[in-house]
Amino acid sequence: MCGIVGAIAAHDVTPVLIDGLRRLEYRGYDSTGLAVVQTKGALALRRAVGKVARLQEKLHAEPCAGFLGIAHSRWATHGGVTEANAHPHVSEGRIALIHNGIIENYVELKAELCDKGYRFASETDTEVIAHLIHDFVKQGLDLTAAVQTAVRRLSGAYAIVVFDAQIPDRIVVARIASPLVVGLGSDGHYVASDVQALLPVTRRFKFLEEGDVADIRIDRVTIFDAAGRIVDRPEHESSLSADAVERGEYAHYMLKEIYEQPRAIADTLSERIAGDHVLEAAFGPRAGDILPQVQQVHIVACGTSYHAGLVARYYLEQGARIPCSVEVASEYRYRNPVVMPGTLFLAISQSGETADTLAALREAKKLGYVATAAICNVPESSLVREADLVLMTRAGPEIGVASTKAFTTQLAALGLLGLAIAQRRGIDRRLIALYVRQLRRVPEMVEHTLRLDGQIRAWAEHFASKRHALFLGRGPTYPIAMEGALKLKEISYIHAEAYAAGELKHGPLALVDDDMPVVAVAPNNPLLEKLKSNLQEVRARGGRLFVFADPNTGIESSEGVEVIAMPDHIEPLQAPLVYTLPLQLLAYHVAVHRGTDVDQPRNLAKSVTVE
Ligand code: G6P
Repeated sequence: MCGIVGAIAAHDVTPVLIDGLRRLEYRGYDSTGLAVVQTKGALALRRAVGKVARLQEKLHAEPCAGFLGIAHSRWATHGGVTEANAHPHVSEGRIALIHNGIIENYVELKAELCDKGYRFASETDTEVIAHLIHDFVKQGLDLTAAVQTAVRRLSGAYAIVVFDAQIPDRIVVARIASPLVVGLGSDGHYVASDVQALLPVTRRFKFLEEGDVADIRIDRVTIFDAAGRIVDRPEHESSLSADAVERGEYAHYMLKEIYEQPRAIADTLSERIAGDHVLEAAFGPRAGDILPQVQQVHIVACGTSYHAGLVARYYLEQGARIPCSVEVASEYRYRNPVVMPGTLFLAISQSGETADTLAALREAKKLGYVATAAICNVPESSLVREADLVLMTRAGPEIGVASTKAFTTQLAALGLLGLAIAQRRGIDRRLIALYVRQLRRVPEMVEHTLRLDGQIRAWAEHFASKRHALFLGRGPTYPIAMEGALKLKEISYIHAEAYAAGELKHGPLALVDDDMPVVAVAPNNPLLEKLKSNLQEVRARGGRLFVFADPNTGIESSEGVEVIAMPDHIEPLQAPLVYTLPLQLLAYHVAVHRGTDVDQPRNLAKSVTVE
């Protein structure tokens, strides 16, 4: 979603703002802008449609500098992608503001402000906040009080950063339901949507809580809670390295992140397994009390994380013999679900800031669950701070919008959760020990799968000219087919659908012809013979098959059937992780062939902080 950076320092902050935007660009990137105060009352505004590079070109042609400034990368919600709709929005040359989120009551506020004579220059919901704050400043409030008063009138989600060019002694920020972090520097102070944006200037951070307003000066930061009381928020030192977000020798972040998976999965498993069992303490200090009470699990997530949840259902039901339901967060949060005693709520999210997932967690807290749990990749995120039990994936920063290493590390974490619950449910210890051994071997198998890259690249050409593709799987690899289809559509813009192979004859078979490539994942499991029959149904209709198959399945390349042999002896627990990689690589190479923007596909954003 939108990216936010703000700074007040003893030097020109423009380079910090631009670098911060670049580091946040993955959040949203249809337009960008910045505003700085050059001297008291002199506000410089630069905005551009497109990526940060376009803004840099503008700055090159028309330089500006200032000790105080704000910058924004926009992912459009209200109003098209135009320069006028790009942030910052400025009220009468004085109050400049950037915003991430959605103001739901902006129509009524806009009418009120129009009546008062404010002229609107954009179609955004954001501009009302700038005028509203300005209106309170005109009534005699200082900027901090004006922001505190104005936010009480807003409904919706927001992280805002604002300054007054006439009195440039501070930037003021406020947040509800959108992330915002304050960076404590030695020569000034900073704010941003996430810590990555500020790593080159500081490692010391304070995370603002729901409803907080902060008054940020060059030499001090004062935080107020929602009730207006001064509060102290704990300081955190980030251990992320500033170059963790560099692309290195790889052509794209996505490729780099695909190749990082063996390491990331190994990191996620490490220190969480002792001998032949999973350490419950990995889920947090309350795990020992909570896990014995768990009788069933409700999983809620969005996008790729939802697919991880679908795999987890197999782990929990087949492995731990515990009922599990999985649902997309945007549906769950409004469904008023029935919660049976002993149910654990589990949210899965790479970012920990996805608006629907967070709202679902907050809703769940009112519904009588045994506890809430989160599997997440960002330690400082809202989700992690609010859940009772937490298991961190250790994928490291994921920049490519299409999620890869976050997904497989989620699967590894869900494997650990399944085993932790199985241990408490008295499942045979020898079986648990066997599963633990299988999980430990996943990084090495995933590494092996990366060697198929050349063969997969050769397939990509066939897909590049197609408009549709079908993905088939059965059992725990059905969600992997779903994830493969999602990857392909996200980054290559080819329409791709996944079906449980058994459903083929109930509709999608009507679409199959020689122009519709059909991708299948075929591990060697008890469903293999049934899958093979489904593949025959495709062949009989002239469909062209591309199969990732276990070498012992007997599925071989022939007329209209292309087969890539996967590593041998992959167990059902391992298959979802191992079979994901070739599908990621296929989507990647098809997208490269088609010349799309692999890391920042059109219309999509990495972190979706609006509903
Ligand atoms: C966006 C991203 C996806 C991601 C989904 C959920 O749609 O583009 O890659 O899977 O959000 O995000 P989360 O951070 O909650 O896993």
